[in-house]
Amino acid sequence: MIRRARFLRPKATTINDNDDEIESRPRARLVDRMAAPERALVLVPVLTRRATAGSRDGLSIHSPEDRLTEARGLAEAIDLDIRDARIVTISEPRPGTLFGSGKVEELKAAIADMKAGLVIVDQAISPVQQRNLEQAWNAKVLDRTGLILEIFGRRAQTREGRLQVELAHLSYQKGRLVRAWTHLERQRGGAGFLGGPGEAQIELDRRMLDARIQAIKKELEQVVRTRELHRAGRRKVPYPIVAIAGYTNAGKSTLFNRITGAGVLAMDQVFATLDPTMREVKLDGGRRIILSDTVGFISDLPPSLVAAFRATLEEVVEADLILHVRDISHAETEAQARDVEAVLASLGIDTVPAHAHILEVWNKVDLLSPERRVEIEAEARFRERKPVLVSAQSGQGIDQLVTAIRDRLGAGDEEMVLTIPASEGRLMSWLHRHVGVIERTQLENGDVRFHVRVGADHKGRLMARLAESGLAAGVLRV
Ligand code: GTP
Repeated sequence: MIRRARFLRPKATTINDNDDEIESRPRARLVDRMAAPERALVLVPVLTRRATAGSRDGLSIHSPEDRLTEARGLAEAIDLDIRDARIVTISEPRPGTLFGSGKVEELKAAIADMKAGLVIVDQAISPVQQRNLEQAWNAKVLDRTGLILEIFGRRAQTREGRLQVELAHLSYQKGRLVRAWTHLERQRGGAGFLGGPGEAQIELDRRMLDARIQAIKKELEQVVRTRELHRAGRRKVPYPIVAIAGYTNAGKSTLFNRITGAGVLAMDQVFATLDPTMREVKLDGGRRIILSDTVGFISDLPPSLVAAFRATLEEVVEADLILHVRDISHAETEAQARDVEAVLASLGIDTVPAHAHILEVWNKVDLLSPERRVEIEAEARFRERKPVLVSAQSGQGIDQLVTAIRDRLGAGDEEMVLTIPASEGRLMSWLHRHVGVIERTQLENGDVRFHVRVGADHKGRLMARLAESGLAAGVLRV
């Protein structure tokens, strides 16, 4: 049985104390919030030759079909009216337009037909390609980086999250402005055209972006200082931190809710969680943990965002145990897991199965066919990480998961029985704060008997406190 305990750090409070100001500020967006959803076409470029690698190559091998499903899901996450989603094979990527001229023409007709105002290209494209395609198709073009920035922008919940996304967004835009400008210059035969009408506007935009970037950086410094205070406060909490990490849509928020019994946002949209949420949870047997829900990972997370979210991801780095939630029913579950592990490794987390403090949670088992389920169960038994199979939605397997969490954290724990005289009030309150009290019994003479579980990290301090009061402890089980 899991009991929901004190609310530690709600999603958007404390550091989110100045929301109105954030909301009223003009936001730098590539896609504006519109009354009617914009009609959009989603394109997944697939290179037939790998020589000219797009940004996706080398990261993980997701199949084109899966990329298509994911790209559609990402686009839906920003409320677009997706008219069509297609795989477009490219034999020779063109520096100016990515696609060959015949393909550009063909797509132009399709875009006009479906009256799409936006085309999403599921790959990082250069500013020049973006501009040329926009001109050719008479529609806005958004690449994968831009799309992910959009999603993060909409999902950010805390003040810090919003500032971080805006910063990443502005830097992205600035890069595009500058490079487009250089390109214009080159077209006109090099230097000597400074001061032309186009440049003046671009220079102005650039200065505005710079000013805004500086202002955000300043504001962020302040927010980060506040966050550090919160974190320092949290470090004093003597409970281990269990962080939930995993690929986007794997079911992290659903699992978090299932374990805490709390109503945090859980929806079928990517990046439903952006900022970590933390709750204190009391597990069966008196052990308390802090459960932290973190951002959803995705392949090709733009580097600027990885950098921007480093602070947020530090919640994972500092965790005593990481629950890596996987959608085991997903056809690409292995590729997704590799992407997540790559991000964890890039954060400096030891992901070697033998010593990693990672517990794999294979979620959505309810979606498996009976035959597949047997296979997956057999596979799980052979895995070094000893994954736990659950359905966060139905609750199946959650008890086993909680036991596994307890076992992982409990290695090195000891149970003790202590009899504390009534006069030792301070010692009793120390016990309540620092060790897991399993049972407390009031004795007839006024003394109190405590049955406690103490972690290896607190045992020395406990012994010192007892010695100060001239007391001893009876060890129940080692
Ligand atoms: P991001 O915030 O995008 O990273 O997603 P997440 O990993 O937090 O996923 P979330 O909990 O929002 O779940 C995504 C979708 O999967 C939702 O529609 C959930 O209802 C669904 N889901 C989660 N767990 C299960 C499960 O065990 N079984 C089934 N069938 N669906 C699930």
